[in-house]
Amino acid sequence: MTISRSDVTVENVVQAVVAGHRGQRGSLLPILHAIQAELGYVPQEAIPVLADELNLSRADVHGVVTFYHDFRREPAGHTTVRICRAEACQALGANNLVGYVREAGLSLGETAADGSVTVEQVFCLGNCALGPSVEANGRLYGRVDTAQLGSILNGTVS
Ligand code: FES
Repeated sequence: MTISRSDVTVENVVQAVVAGHRGQRGSLLPILHAIQAELGYVPQEAIPVLADELNLSRADVHGVVTFYHDFRREPAGHTTVRICRAEACQALGANNLVGYVREAGLSLGETAADGSVTVEQVFCLGNCALGPSVEANGRLYGRVDTAQLGSILNGTVS
């Protein structure tokens, strides 16, 4: 999908994404993923446009967006850090990482006030043997300790 930068409004993005999925059954989830890929999140303004375009109720669309934790409701920070909290990583110390995040004044699922970082929890990054695992802006780290997590959060690890 190509949307010129001058046409980037939520409505235009949603309409272009829907047009690209026209005729596909069960297209709401792929459409939401495509909107998030384009805009970085699924804005509230997208919901009524999607409902109109897909002939769904706003409540239906809102319900899907809020049910799946993969969909962001607000723009992410400059760095997105995802901490694995699935069983293998829990056994290898993921809770220490979560505690460290909280001590740093951050909350899982939220973006720091300065917009520098968003911290999320995930349930398996496919790196179970090298847990606890963390992903930062798509890069995977294994055997992460609190010192390394601090560097990742501060953006001093690339
Ligand atoms: S359980 Fe953490 S990467 Fe699989």
